[in-house]
Amino acid sequence: MTVPPAPIEEAAGLFTLDPGKSHLNNGSFGTVPVPVQRRHAELRAEMEADTVVFFRGLTDRIAAARAEVAAFLDADPAGLAFTANVTEGVAVALASLPLGIRDEILITDHCYGAVQLAVRRRAEACGAKVGVAEVARGGMWTGDDAVQAILDAVTPRTRVAVFDHVTSATARLMPVHRLVTELRARGVTTVVDGAHVPGMLPVSLNGIGADFWTGNLHKWGFAPRSTGVLAVSPEWRARVRPLIVSWFAEEGFPVAIESQGTRDHTGWLAAPYGLRLIGELGAGRIRRHNAELAEYGQRLLAEATGLAAWPGDPELAMRVVRLPQGMARTFEAALALAVRVTEELGCHVAIRPWQGAGLVRLSAQIYNRPDEYQRFATGFAGILRNWV
Ligand SMILES: Cc1ncc(COP(=O)(O)O)c(C=O)c1O
Repeated sequence: MTVPPAPIEEAAGLFTLDPGKSHLNNGSFGTVPVPVQRRHAELRAEMEADTVVFFRGLTDRIAAARAEVAAFLDADPAGLAFTANVTEGVAVALASLPLGIRDEILITDHCYGAVQLAVRRRAEACGAKVGVAEVARGGMWTGDDAVQAILDAVTPRTRVAVFDHVTSATARLMPVHRLVTELRARGVTTVVDGAHVPGMLPVSLNGIGADFWTGNLHKWGFAPRSTGVLAVSPEWRARVRPLIVSWFAEEGFPVAIESQGTRDHTGWLAAPYGLRLIGELGAGRIRRHNAELAEYGQRLLAEATGLAAWPGDPELAMRVVRLPQGMARTFEAALALAVRVTEELGCHVAIRPWQGAGLVRLSAQIYNRPDEYQRFATGFAGILRNWV
């Protein structure tokens, strides 16, 4: 049994999570620390105190927040736009691509469900085909396998490839820089879904060089929800159009994307405070803690239940355990099991169907403690013993 990491003491008191539950699913929606909640509330109060003045000064303040986020992601500030989330980032990227009936959009078998729907909708609208690269065709996979599977699936018609930076259900890291380089050499435009990356992994968007890269600050970046980003390479910026046309639609990237009538921008303005908190606590320290705790939790669960621990990537704050074949094999069954885990054990975990069986995904964030994983592992072993 590995020893769990020492807790990050400063995390105590930073969150408002219900202490009666074990929150082992940071990956789904993130958690906003108290100082960021406070800053967000102050911004809202400022907006309500003098709405006209608040909106008048908004453009410069959004630009300043964007610049700070760009520095955190090592991205070109002129190539980064705030979005509500990755769902919007992917939709904007797909809408900007000139695609027709002779073209193919390549996704992978790991593609997040909502992103897959967006790809299929876009393909339907323009008559393009959707190809699926079977990254998991041989079961477990390495980064080399992922690159090979994706490149093998490229056809002369492939115009664009959409793939994850960190996969959702299986919690694996893709070799994105290699993929972007290889796909570019084949004339394929890249759209990278980095939903889980900001705050979980050190990242250089300049170094990755994707045509489009989109991520969430609200999952692991301690930002309020509805805080995503879309980074666009210089070649594509002039082609990117807002999905909803509003004032500034002719301004060009990034302002055109961010402008949408009267909407609440306070989350974007508060986002840098989440990133600063990561800096204050120590980004490397948080990452090490979370990755080690996730691995510890996975090991406890595998040992308590006899289930298979899926190979994880050492840098990630999420780990997966595979359920017996047939268990939680549909979305409905997986959700029903997750609800049962909440109701009977007081624990939140992500459970997703994956190739005929369910996967339990454990997250670790600085508010988690080793005993929470112990409690879940013991309780879940009981559920499995009584499973009918
Ligand atoms: C890999 C991946 N892509 C996209 C999303 C969608 O993120 P959002 O709902 O914030 O748009 C998620 C959310 O969990 C995800 O895990």
